[in-house]
Amino acid sequence: MKIGIAADHGGFALKEVIKTFLQSRQHEVTDFGATAYNDQDDYPDFVVPLARAIASGEVTRGIAVCGSGVGASIAANKVAGVRAALINDHFSAHQGVEDDDMNLLCLGGRVTGPEAAKELIIAFLNAKFTDAERHKRRLAKVKQLES
Ligand code: RB5
Repeated sequence: MKIGIAADHGGFALKEVIKTFLQSRQHEVTDFGATAYNDQDDYPDFVVPLARAIASGEVTRGIAVCGSGVGASIAANKVAGVRAALINDHFSAHQGVEDDDMNLLCLGGRVTGPEAAKELIIAFLNAKFTDAERHKRRLAKVKQLES
């Protein structure tokens, strides 16, 4: 799968772990930065380009990391076509895709440790949207908000 990743300084260390992890699982990874740790950088500068790449189809899914995952999810959801959520538990990591077609997983680099993050990522990437009518109906109502 083509996967985009992004992080500010709060998520930089976890993003590096995630990058290696995804590559070891044969995913094609595009890193939208940061490319180095800089405690003055701002999460929208990395998360928004990733979100736009998801919306355009350049990457299939994304993983964004900031300190808490909150800022990343707020910024990403401003981009039409992106369905981002801050995820801290296994159930939501897959159900968010199955029911809500989540295409961007947001994590807190100061909240979620590397091993837990890997498990959340596996659940996210293995999950598929069910295509159920009720979920499509709800998503259509959400999509209306974009126009
Ligand atoms: C940066 O210090 C921090 O505010 C940011 O990474 C993030 O947690 C915002 O939600």
